[in-house]
Amino acid sequence: MKIAIVGLGYVGLPLSLQFAKSGVEVLGLDIDPDKVSSLNRGHSYIHHIQSEDINVQLKAGRFSASTDFSGVRQVAAVIICVPTPLSKNREPDMSYIIKTGESIAPHLHEGILVVLESTTYPGTTDEDLRQVLESGSGLKAGKDFHLAFSPEREDPGNPDSKVALIPKIVGGYTAACRDKALALYSHAIKTVVPVSSCRAAEATKLLENIFRSVNIALVNELKVVYAAMGIDVWEVIQAARTKPFGYMAFYPGPGLGGHCIPIDPFYLTWKAREYSQATRFIELAGEINTAMPEYVVQRVIEALNARRKPANGSRVLLLGLAYKADVDDLRESPTFKLLDLLKMRGADVAYYDPYIPVIGPTREHAEWKGLESVPWDRQSIGSFDVVLIATAHRNVDYRELAEWAETIVDTRNALAGVKTKPGQVWKA
Ligand SMILES: NC(=O)c1ccc[n+]([C@@H]2O[C@H](COP(=O)([O-])OP(=O)(O)OC[C@H]3O[C@@H](n4cnc5c(N)ncnc54)[C@H](O)[C@@H]3O)[C@@H](O)[C@H]2O)c1
Repeated sequence: MKIAIVGLGYVGLPLSLQFAKSGVEVLGLDIDPDKVSSLNRGHSYIHHIQSEDINVQLKAGRFSASTDFSGVRQVAAVIICVPTPLSKNREPDMSYIIKTGESIAPHLHEGILVVLESTTYPGTTDEDLRQVLESGSGLKAGKDFHLAFSPEREDPGNPDSKVALIPKIVGGYTAACRDKALALYSHAIKTVVPVSSCRAAEATKLLENIFRSVNIALVNELKVVYAAMGIDVWEVIQAARTKPFGYMAFYPGPGLGGHCIPIDPFYLTWKAREYSQATRFIELAGEINTAMPEYVVQRVIEALNARRKPANGSRVLLLGLAYKADVDDLRESPTFKLLDLLKMRGADVAYYDPYIPVIGPTREHAEWKGLESVPWDRQSIGSFDVVLIATAHRNVDYRELAEWAETIVDTRNALAGVKTKPGQVWKA
């Protein structure tokens, strides 16, 4: 069997390799010619995906990448994994899905299956995508070709999270579409979970991400309240998680990051307006999580103040630029917000991140392009007035940090269990 996977990013690339490993021939399609040629040379551009894994599949003839969408004519199924960001006004940006639909529509043929994986609001697959595919191909969904939605559940940076072992939700435009999609994923994924429609599958993914956003907001709020009472929220969470039922641990931080949690809930907020429905939990969680960088910066200012130093002119090192530990993904990273806020107050800012030696081009933070990670040694780290831990990569030596840095503001409890000096560490 041969399939096409459109969008060879953090979702599409591992999925392509998983299908290839399962014996399915995969044509990877992307509009970025650099990514395509790098993949065809066997080079991974994502830290946690090994070049070796790509090479094995290239050599076996089970994976190739291309920018030519006419290859869709030769495949039994197309899986779409393109970005779904928010526009400047925080509205869903459907342009990537629509453009992909337009690119593949002329090449659709009778019996082909099209599955959307990008996170989005209910109705995207059976309204927006279906219309583009039908008008561009002259074929009818559910009659001439199959259409389904199956959300991605990637956990980047978690070595125990294997694509094949994460159950896959599948909803079809018709029951036949669903069965076709279930059969496709069964080649590569151990457990497939059918739901009644594309919309139910789209809504499932949103529930999962809204659940995270709301629970992170809850512990972020409790962090601030408990800190005012002299209580360490990290200690409280550790204690609460000993309860064997009815509790699930979430952890506070300097603000939301990544492609999903800060963005996806607002896809539902936007769509809910069409039905005159309010999404108050989503809005409140967004408000609390968005306020976190400002709270953290206030803690940095307090920490400097305790050393009789003003923020203006102080040297501040941001430790961790990636939005989460052990990955090189800096999309929506709150560290950018922290850099901006500290710079606004006159601080002389720098960063250290073992996974990001230099800041490349980004959609929203062009002004930081070209900034390089500082060296990791006593002289370099010791030259800062304060080190702010924004992301707790596991390969950072926090004992060395405690030895070298005068003052540390820790938003991740990274220094738990590390010997520190009195007054050296400020939790935030
Ligand atoms: N990254 C995650 O951990 C994660 C987890 C779950 C769900 N998702 C969702 O999966 C989707 C994809 O996310 P991602 O992280 O893989 O994004 P990404 O930016 O890493 O990759 C998207 C890829 O699509 C390509 N692309 C853009 N427009 C295209 C087009 N018109 N035709 C072909 N290719 C095109 C880009 O060049 C890029 O290589 C999003 O909807 C996201 O919300 C992501």
